[in-house]
Amino acid sequence: MCLRPSRENRPDLARLTVAIANIELDLKMSPMTPDRADERSSSARFWSKLARKYSASPIKDQTAYETTLARTSAYLRPDHSVLELGCGTGSTAMILAGNTHSYLATDFAAGMIDIAEEKLAVAEAEGAAPDGLRFAVADIFSAQTDTPDGGGYDAILGFNFLHLVETPEALLARAHGLLKPGGLLITKTVCLKDRAWLFGPLIKALKLVGKAPFVKFYSFQTLERLISDAGFEILETGTFPEPRSRFIVARMR
Ligand SMILES: C[S@@+](CC[C@H](N)C(=O)[O-])C[C@H]1O[C@@H](n2cnc3c(N)ncnc32)[C@H](O)[C@@H]1O
Repeated sequence: MCLRPSRENRPDLARLTVAIANIELDLKMSPMTPDRADERSSSARFWSKLARKYSASPIKDQTAYETTLARTSAYLRPDHSVLELGCGTGSTAMILAGNTHSYLATDFAAGMIDIAEEKLAVAEAEGAAPDGLRFAVADIFSAQTDTPDGGGYDAILGFNFLHLVETPEALLARAHGLLKPGGLLITKTVCLKDRAWLFGPLIKALKLVGKAPFVKFYSFQTLERLISDAGFEILETGTFPEPRSRFIVARMR
């Protein structure tokens, strides 16, 4: 199999890149926006460059998306303080924040947050912005995600996110430390273990030319063990869309 992107196979590679990241989109390969000088991580640069296309593309499985929103909303309350990680262009935050006290939506890709802030500005102009919603270019280790009053978050969310994290144990340890006692970790993660033989070498090659982000290959079992080992009790699991997007609600033990 040829792993070098040629003119002929570029559209397929683009689709594959997207499938790997579970962007749930079908993007055409076209020039991405230029690199941002302020982003040191190659994955953050990848996501920033993809942001405009990501934002413009429709959700592939609307039913699965609505199930994710509904199952997540079932755990959130109007007095909750929420942190979202890897929020992308902020569409989910704009919906979920309406039913919380405060909602800090973060992403390490500045290109994603630029778009999220544009959406928020439009909503504000229309008087439709959720009150407590804020966006920030940050990862979980940034000072911006510290809770201002030191009281901790009621819930930390990450959708289509954990499989893209290079140090998941450290991230989960930090999430555990940022939550209030009994706080919730709600994630949806693409589990590609059964496709690692194909995607592994392909991603490695694409990553070398800046066309793929970091991706980890989980099975449902390894993902759930990772979360349990980080000090969480799993309350609910589901798979939407089938067969690889694992939704997990976990509570701090
Ligand atoms: C597949 S997109 C998902 C975006 C959004 N959550 C959604 O479901 O549409 C993954 C997002 O996670 C962000 N991301 C990946 N690794 C990250 C990390 N370690 N810290 C913060 N954001 C990260 C990327 O920049 C990207 O916006």
